[in-house]
Amino acid sequence: MREGIWLSVIHIHGLYRLEGEVEIQGSKNAVLPVMAASVLHKGTVRISNVPEIQDVFCMMEILKLLGCVCVFRDHVLEICTEGVRPVRIPDSCCKSMRSSIMLLGPLLGRFREARVSHPGGCSIGKRPVDLHLLALEALGARTHVEGESITAQALGLTGNRVELAFPSVGATENLLMAAAAAEGTTRVEGAAMEPEIVVLCRFLKALGAGVRGEGTGVVEITGRKESRGLVEFSVPGDRIVAGTYLGAVLGAGGDVVLRGAPVSQMARVQTLVRAAGGEIRTLPGEAGLCIRQRQRARPFSLSTGPYPRFPTDLQSVMLAVASVADGRSQIRETVFEERFATAKELQKMGAHIIIEDNTAYVTGRDCLEGCLVKAGDLRGGAALVVAGLAARGETVISGYPYIRRGYEDICRDLAGLGARISLEGQETNCEEENGSF
Ligand code: EPZ
Repeated sequence: MREGIWLSVIHIHGLYRLEGEVEIQGSKNAVLPVMAASVLHKGTVRISNVPEIQDVFCMMEILKLLGCVCVFRDHVLEICTEGVRPVRIPDSCCKSMRSSIMLLGPLLGRFREARVSHPGGCSIGKRPVDLHLLALEALGARTHVEGESITAQALGLTGNRVELAFPSVGATENLLMAAAAAEGTTRVEGAAMEPEIVVLCRFLKALGAGVRGEGTGVVEITGRKESRGLVEFSVPGDRIVAGTYLGAVLGAGGDVVLRGAPVSQMARVQTLVRAAGGEIRTLPGEAGLCIRQRQRARPFSLSTGPYPRFPTDLQSVMLAVASVADGRSQIRETVFEERFATAKELQKMGAHIIIEDNTAYVTGRDCLEGCLVKAGDLRGGAALVVAGLAARGETVISGYPYIRRGYEDICRDLAGLGARISLEGQETNCEEENGSF
């Protein structure tokens, strides 16, 4: 028999309340653009509170291929960018995650040329890059797409007024990184307002760019000549990981402290938690959040959208919570056209979910039934964990590589709160998606 390969699968015995305190890891979606932006700097960047997740390791591989030296220890990542060259980044690296597209802006900014290929990323929709290319062209770049490969070149980059047709997070980030190396000032209208944009702008200011309006729909950025030496930086806690664990408490019940949760970035999520019956309060000095859920979650209605609306990245988690809420909930997805894939796996666990157009209508049950389910994307996998904690019996979740792209150690975090959850090896003959796309 062909030698089996070992897969890591998550085992959960559900219906245990969660109690205690958990430290929230650094933000994946904040650190990835900052790592890419380090290419703009000629020296060393030292970033603290970096999560040990697969996407960070993939971005490190890309930076090393470009000539960076990366040292990552105890959540501190040091990137020396003296030796960077605009070499073509191999398809395999670009396909490993969506953030590989983030190298377009910084490479264009530093070398006036960049060669990447179409990025990977969770299969939650088409995820084109047209807005990225249009934005860079507005600064004077010429872009060319042939098959999977994307190239961008410019004789020079000049500040301009750029209006984004949709507040794309990635396109806003690519544009800001290129504009930080452009002559003059760029005014971005229709900019994404996510907290990760504010973090990136704080980093670009540390490199010498002038920035105003970050976090609003209109951002003005004035390019800087170049920056050298050592730049020290830190990223905040991950609001989506914190929101995932809030969902876990809503579904399984409990009394939990989320230390390091970025409170000021989670207003809409806190409102939703209260609507679902959670008692939530802020730790002194905004050091984190406490949540207590004594009874079954109440049904709720939500619509995802660009920040400050409810984050699309928590839609699947809340679908799992709605599946055990005491009544009928409604969840509308307005950002990604294929982000309800997890509903099929939740239905295997007994969830009553009907999807019509971009809305899920959910009739909650007092608990789900544990069974074998499969993660198909990062946040969908986290939602299955939340569902397993609220299910009778054992839930076995395959597709762990998707989850480890964004969660440092979801089993360690939840087991520390009393969940009966573990990561186990299992021999099998099926090819495991290695979490890349
Ligand atoms: C970022 O993806 C995040 N990823 C996503 O998190 C998050 O869901 C998303 O922003 C929205 O908040 C990272 O930051 C690494 P978009 P991004 O460009 O930049 C369309 C996670 O789980 N669009 O704001 O790819 C696109 O198809 C991940 O951590 C275009 O049409 O998101 C989508 O419908 C998943 N053309 C919408 O805009 C473009 O050129 C939002 O995409 C770009 C995007």
